[in-house]
Amino acid sequence: MKVVLQTTWNTTAAWRAELLRQAPDLDVRVWPEIGDPAEIEAVLCWQPPPDLFAGMRNLRLIQVLGAGVDGLLRSHPRLPPVPVARLVDPVMSQRMAEYCLYATLRFHRQFDVYERQLAQARWERHQHPDPGEVGVGVMGLGAIGSATVRLLRQLGYNVAAWARSPHPEAEVPVFVGEEGLPAFLARTRILVCLLPLTPDTASILDRRLFEQLPRGSYIVNVARGEHLVVPHLLAALETGRLEGAMLDVFAHEPLPKSSPLWRHPKVFVTPHAAGITNPRTATAVIVEQLRRLERGEPLLHLVDPARGY
Ligand code: GLV
Repeated sequence: MKVVLQTTWNTTAAWRAELLRQAPDLDVRVWPEIGDPAEIEAVLCWQPPPDLFAGMRNLRLIQVLGAGVDGLLRSHPRLPPVPVARLVDPVMSQRMAEYCLYATLRFHRQFDVYERQLAQARWERHQHPDPGEVGVGVMGLGAIGSATVRLLRQLGYNVAAWARSPHPEAEVPVFVGEEGLPAFLARTRILVCLLPLTPDTASILDRRLFEQLPRGSYIVNVARGEHLVVPHLLAALETGRLEGAMLDVFAHEPLPKSSPLWRHPKVFVTPHAAGITNPRTATAVIVEQLRRLERGEPLLHLVDPARGY
């Protein structure tokens, strides 16, 4: 099968080597050296340039190399009419869940406070509640949200989720849609955003939402920068409505050096590193997908471009 590999990462060569190691029969062509576009059956891409799909008359699959497809849908409003899949790698989901666990522990056990004390050599101990008394609210119950819920529950946190549709299989209470949001927020002390970015979820982490959380709550954003209204966050930290934030994603990445987020004492910034895609484990998922395509079997993790995820 002839496949095009395109990424904006500096690891493209490693990806190609891994693909060929796991599936030596593949003909992997690295963008832009793709030969005759009419021969290409599958594209593996991350932030593709506008002309990537030009002339690909026999294309059968667009496989995104990340969990979110918002970038692709935004930059390519008219995609070729072929299935689009996102990457669901259980190893990457687990890495994301670990990040959310760290953030939860950081705020629950007040490591943020101790970090500020450290700077002043201040010896002061603080009481903290048991995990079962800490309401953690996970927004989004896809593969990563579910892995996060599982991990936090193992540690005994009082976890609930918020989703667009009911999840009868979930191990925790799931609050659904607009109607479920106020009750979900009222019981949440640490809010973890793992939503896909769609027109419905853009700017969801705003003043109105913060006002429905208990005073002194925390925000953890590991989804997309566009979910968060930064000036509203800064204002809520100022008034004490929010007590802290841990942010991995930003509307403009790299986060500009001039951003006040870098220097805010109650904001912990990481450089979109919560779940860096691992070429080895992700390739196993992608090879399975390409085998399914070859055999004409149902494809995995297809996206509905109209829904946005
Ligand atoms: C990264 O943010 C991804 O969507 O995989």
